[in-house]
Amino acid sequence: MAIQIRPQFHPITPFIGAEVDGIDLREPLAPEQIAAIDDAMDRYAVLVFHDQPLTNDQHLAFTRSLGPIETSTGNKLRKPEDIRLPTTFADVSNLDGNNKPYARNDRKRLFAIGNRLWHSDSSFKAIPAKYSLLRALSVPSKGGNTEFAHMGAAYEALDDATKALIEPLICEHSQMFSRDLIGFRDFSADERERFKPVLQRLVRTLPRTGRKSVYLSSHAGTIIGWEMPEARLLLRDLTEHATQREFVYSHKWRVNDLVMWDNRQTMHRGRPFPADEARDVRRTTLAGHAPTVEQPIAVAA
Ligand code: OGA
Ligand code: MN
Repeated sequence: MAIQIRPQFHPITPFIGAEVDGIDLREPLAPEQIAAIDDAMDRYAVLVFHDQPLTNDQHLAFTRSLGPIETSTGNKLRKPEDIRLPTTFADVSNLDGNNKPYARNDRKRLFAIGNRLWHSDSSFKAIPAKYSLLRALSVPSKGGNTEFAHMGAAYEALDDATKALIEPLICEHSQMFSRDLIGFRDFSADERERFKPVLQRLVRTLPRTGRKSVYLSSHAGTIIGWEMPEARLLLRDLTEHATQREFVYSHKWRVNDLVMWDNRQTMHRGRPFPADEARDVRRTTLAGHAPTVEQPIAVAA
């Protein structure tokens, strides 16, 4: 059966998200299938593959067929006995080494729930991620959706003065900025070193389409050359604008879903769910190509 891409989950978000059928991700993909996936990612930014009962190796093989991967640093926050997955995966679950939900007050959990803030994966790395591929092995009885907001559509809806204002701006991103927003501030000296800010452009261009997007993330904490309060307020205003419901698709998880998103043109966030229930979701990540600050600034004609 040929690959089918079915856009449109919601009448007010026609431009974000599509469901993909007619493909078995356990099998090696043909070049035409990979091209169809990349085209659909450029266009819809979030793809949902239902009923894909993959092993970790199959999940990884599918990811690698799309490009080089980025390894995860999140295991550093787990105690050795709680590490469930190799660094080829980000363990986005709420589970410890015995597959039991972390206690509510566990430090690892409190750090991890920072992903309930709108963000783009690894925007705190000098070369941030391209795609993320998250697969669900178990889901809670309620809650736990993942929401996605389209930063290309949000950019296009800005007025011209705002577009001109933000075009040349460079931000600093760090996991310390995002955690600070939720009052998580007890970092070790080693963590402060590892979480040193990196630079990211505020407006980026999707290479193959030329479409611009506003590159926001809860990890963004300052704008170079700006006073912090003004920088934070602009970032907050832009985030409020970009995450209005018209730009958002909310994914309700089923077991064996694999959802892939483009971090270059979306933000996402997890939603709360009962802390005593298991939610086993695992992520592979495709590496980006270059630092966003190396992208030339568009010069007004
Ligand atoms: C992620 C992430 C949110 C969620 O996997 O990068 O932010 O809903 N996940 O689990
Ligand atoms: Mn994330």
